[in-house]
Amino acid sequence: SMDKPNIVTCTAPVNIAVIKYWGKRNEDLILPINSSLSVTLHQDQLKTTTTVATSRSFQEDRIWLNGKEEDITHPRLQSCLREIRRLARKRRNDGEAGLNLTGMSHKVHICSVNNFPTAAGLASSAAGFACLVYTLAQVFGVEGELSGIARQGSGSACRSMYGGFVQWIMGKKDDGKDSLAQQVEPETHWPDLRILVLVASAERKQVGSTSGMQTSVQTSCLLKHRAESVVPERMVEMIEAVQTKDFTAFAELTMKDSNQFHATCLDTYPPIFYLNNVSRQVINLVHRYNRHYGETRVAYTFDAGPNAVIFMLQQHVTEFVQVVQHFFPPDTNGGQFIKGLPVSCASLS
Ligand code: PMV
Repeated sequence: SMDKPNIVTCTAPVNIAVIKYWGKRNEDLILPINSSLSVTLHQDQLKTTTTVATSRSFQEDRIWLNGKEEDITHPRLQSCLREIRRLARKRRNDGEAGLNLTGMSHKVHICSVNNFPTAAGLASSAAGFACLVYTLAQVFGVEGELSGIARQGSGSACRSMYGGFVQWIMGKKDDGKDSLAQQVEPETHWPDLRILVLVASAERKQVGSTSGMQTSVQTSCLLKHRAESVVPERMVEMIEAVQTKDFTAFAELTMKDSNQFHATCLDTYPPIFYLNNVSRQVINLVHRYNRHYGETRVAYTFDAGPNAVIFMLQQHVTEFVQVVQHFFPPDTNGGQFIKGLPVSCASLS
């Protein structure tokens, strides 16, 4: 019957930037000051699961995040809902009406859960908005390019719309139509690449990415230099490293870009600190480990939080995990690491 709710559930994985996005040129449309590149984790690892229901009997749009009802009037959420409904209307007017279009004007109830700490700098908003947009699109029968809508939820979310290695091209247009994510290589491209997440703290981050970026754009001349003169060349080099599966080049660019991002945070006034003592110990450990072997076997990267994301090849995982467990023993670190250590060792496919 018409009262039966239409229900769709989807999952979206987290993505980890190896060339970082930091700074917007347009706040409303979420247009970045530089392009970025990320690796999307496999669906079984860190992910968001979202269920969207529509029913004629729903009085209003509502959303629950990790079981708690949140404010549906959140502007970014409203952008995503509005854009998906706009595309659905456009499809109907173009005569491409799908089966789901009867429920188009209906209100939605959205339920979203993460299987990892929210807002601890583990790209929760990326997986969250990617999943929301994808699930809404399924419900309303919308197809095609959706990364431009996910971008309007959270910038980094546009990259979680694709698997594998993904670039977010900053675009040139003022209306943002060319600021989209694009797959560089699929998830099957580099089968022995592994990703280890070391949780240094599951607390919510001190400074959110939105306000952090604003302050950085306003005050950091290092950020301006980075966006104009560093990232464009690094994007070219990173794409080359990914395409040729050159781990050394990939790893070194990843670490340098993470370090420069955190340097721009320190160059922001007042400064922003996302790394903590554990993060710095992990950085030192990685460099000591690589120096010991005389080659770059392991790379770290940190987003807007203290948790390390480690890249390495499959053949080095066992040993490196042992080294980490030696220096960060599960029971003596004062509970800084969740359950002692790696939250997950992920592959891409
Ligand atoms: O998309 P946001 O607002 O969550 O910003 C993400 C910023 C970083 O995670 C620090 C870098 C990135 O490119 O993901």
